[in-house]
Amino acid sequence: MTIEITPSGEACGATVRNVDLREISDSTVAEIRAAWLDHKVLAFPDQALTDDDLERVTLHFGPFGHDPFFAPIDGHSHIAAIERRADEMSSLFAENWHSDWSFQEYPPDGTCLYSKVVPPIGGDTLYVNQEAALAAMPAELRSRIEGKSAVHSARGGYAPDGAYGADDADDRSMRIRPSAEAYATQMHPLIRTHRETGAETLFSVLGYIIGIDGMDDDEARALLGEVYAWETRDEFQYRHRWEPDMLVMWDNRCVLHRATGGYDGHHRLLHRTTIGYNAEMGVT
Ligand code: SIN
Repeated sequence: MTIEITPSGEACGATVRNVDLREISDSTVAEIRAAWLDHKVLAFPDQALTDDDLERVTLHFGPFGHDPFFAPIDGHSHIAAIERRADEMSSLFAENWHSDWSFQEYPPDGTCLYSKVVPPIGGDTLYVNQEAALAAMPAELRSRIEGKSAVHSARGGYAPDGAYGADDADDRSMRIRPSAEAYATQMHPLIRTHRETGAETLFSVLGYIIGIDGMDDDEARALLGEVYAWETRDEFQYRHRWEPDMLVMWDNRCVLHRATGGYDGHHRLLHRTTIGYNAEMGVT
């Protein structure tokens, strides 16, 4: 069986058909991996996956990552539910641009998200291609971040006083577990080389990035704000529209993503796994 790959026509993303992810050979895994590196976000429609299948599919692409600040679904320690009930009043989860868990020492290579309940309107996921954003970045802006390391932290979201901390809405259906561990910091270069493709890319964004090593806070925030405005421009984006039973797999090393709303009054449920840092694919 030959897989069929249709590029989105946007700045990244492709749809993959003619494959049953429950039964994939090593050669198909290799083909999918090559397409993933090329398109950065792959959508697989019409996949009837159980939670066991979702975990097995994930393991074709790397080890499980470590998910802090989430409790998993019952019976599957590597799956988190991304959920919002129809009557939920809490703020949207993950509405800010981010690269998953970029504050870790070894951030995850990728993420898989599988749709179980898709609202009839809204709830798209947006992606933005950080390789394209860097390639087109004005030289003057690039020169100001070249060689600089960003300070990453989860505190804005997951610390006890963060957005999902003590003051968060009582009715959030997601199993978020804030903790003081979120105050920890970790440094990564603002411009990194992708371990598998060798391409240079921007890594992560203001939010999980809280400063720049060796730079005054105000100056760093102003520079990060300029980088944010550039790296999230429409021309680098791909808008993913969900269908039920669709698996999407993205490369955290070279895209940012964010959730969108527009589905108040409707239920939305996706199951998420994390493709961890795979040292076999080179070292950061
Ligand atoms: C996520 O960032 O994990 C969730 C994205 C979404 O809900 O669209």
